Amino acid sequence: MAGNWKMYKTAPETRAFFEKFAPLVERSEHCEVVICPTYPSLEVAAEATEGTRVEIGAQNMYWAKEGAFTGEVSGPMLTAVGVKWVLVGHSERRQYFGETNETVLQRTLAALEYGLKPIVCVGERLEERESGNTEAVLVAQFREGIARLGSEQFAKIVIAYEPVWAIGTGRTATPEIAADAHRALRAQVLADYGKEAAAAVRILYGGSVKPDNVKTLMAQPEIDGVLVGGASLDPIGFASIVNF
Ligand code: 13P
Repeated sequence: MAGNWKMYKTAPETRAFFEKFAPLVERSEHCEVVICPTYPSLEVAAEATEGTRVEIGAQNMYWAKEGAFTGEVSGPMLTAVGVKWVLVGHSERRQYFGETNETVLQRTLAALEYGLKPIVCVGERLEERESGNTEAVLVAQFREGIARLGSEQFAKIVIAYEPVWAIGTGRTATPEIAADAHRALRAQVLADYGKEAAAAVRILYGGSVKPDNVKTLMAQPEIDGVLVGGASLDPIGFASIVNF
């Protein structure tokens, strides 16, 4: 159960969140709990969650170890402040910051190399769904951005299906629509990595997940967890999602 804070919360706000949130998920042993704050709050978040069940993720990273790449942050810089996870290829990065399937692959490879657990995001835009291209888009994102990982590398990633039209719109995919997409992705995993990998891979759903719809989404056997934006900013609300 993962929260993506996007560009919200200062470091003091981050500290205040965890004071309330950490005790509420202390006994949530049914799942892993991950929160992805902004870069300037990562260290505070990692300190505030030390010794708790919550792990911290970054929202992006660059693939080089270090160098003249103004404005970028590397894997070793993230692990040095206690970060364990990293989001890769979120649709907002694809839409506003020129992320492509090729750069998604590079970031994923670098994340694995530096010991971070990548949550690789895929999902179709509204016009792609309306023109009947959802599956083709997902397959292309998978084949170009993920399927070039070796089997051992693939076993370490989590996939997040986030239909772009459901993000921040209040328009959640129905559990059936989400399950269909998850099935299509799992079929790709089966084709490229075999039966065991297809059974083991965790595919999260993201897009307007709220405390009141998490249960029906999680009731779909295809959906292994959720990646939550807006509703992860409130400690009580996100704890109720984690503890659905
Ligand atoms: P919302 O939950 O705000 O729709 O955002 C989803 C998302 O993009 C999580 O990465």
